[in-house]
Amino acid sequence: MNLEEINHNELPQHIAIIMDGNGRWAQKQGKIRVRGHEAGAKAVRKTVEAVAKLGIKHLTLYAFSTENWSRPKTEISTLMLLLVRSLRNELERMTTNNIKLSAIGSLGKLPNNVQKELQEVIIKTQGNSGMHLTLALSYGAREEIEQAVKQISLKVKNNIIPVESIDETIINEHLYTQNLPDVDLLIRTSGEVRISNFLLWQIAYAELYFTDELWPEFDEQSLQRAILSYQKRERRFGKTSEQLN
Ligand code: IPE
Ligand code: IPE
Ligand code: MG
Repeated sequence: MNLEEINHNELPQHIAIIMDGNGRWAQKQGKIRVRGHEAGAKAVRKTVEAVAKLGIKHLTLYAFSTENWSRPKTEISTLMLLLVRSLRNELERMTTNNIKLSAIGSLGKLPNNVQKELQEVIIKTQGNSGMHLTLALSYGAREEIEQAVKQISLKVKNNIIPVESIDETIINEHLYTQNLPDVDLLIRTSGEVRISNFLLWQIAYAELYFTDELWPEFDEQSLQRAILSYQKRERRFGKTSEQLN
């Protein structure tokens, strides 16, 4: 399989990935879970490069969920350490590749050093006009919707907006993803066929792609397979095939 087979005129504008299976990858190699997360960080780097190379504008990666706070403390601290390390190591590469970094989630719950490192990279890459990479950290879609409802309710209560004005656009504007288009292609690795509280609103019409590959195994070829599958589908958005043709 090579790049030639992908139709460059019909690329998804926004790819989101549930990067799952680090622990199982490590287990398969007889290693501790942490090694899986380290290998997962390498897969992130390769994927970011591959997506940017294709000229795809938006990539959103699910790196840590609100539910992941229930994991053993030691695993959480390793994940946070790896995050800080990756942010530090990748800043230069992001700058060279013109990548802009954002983060979504309840970021205030992250350890201070992670918040600091994250803010630094976000600020330093803010002006970059190439790919827009969004990390979902301490992210939960239900929590995102909950805070949006609270913000909108307050605006109604304080007579800033009338109830009648609440529509999809207003709701979009109060989500963490306010500056992002809807997801076109959602990929989940590791064989699990579930959404795990990721971007519930934004995937309303996304094409879903599930692969048995574990996240550390995911590479450029895996990405190409996912995009090829996406390009074979007919996105009807409620219409009939005839209407589209
Ligand atoms: C994904 O891999 C990474 C995070 C959720 C942070 P897992 O750690 O969930 O790996 P498995 O699912 O246990 O194999
Ligand atoms: C989903 O993976 C969250 C991330 C990839 C960050 P999990 O491994 O936490 O999902 P569940 O618990 O198996 O659904
Ligand atoms: Mg998992």
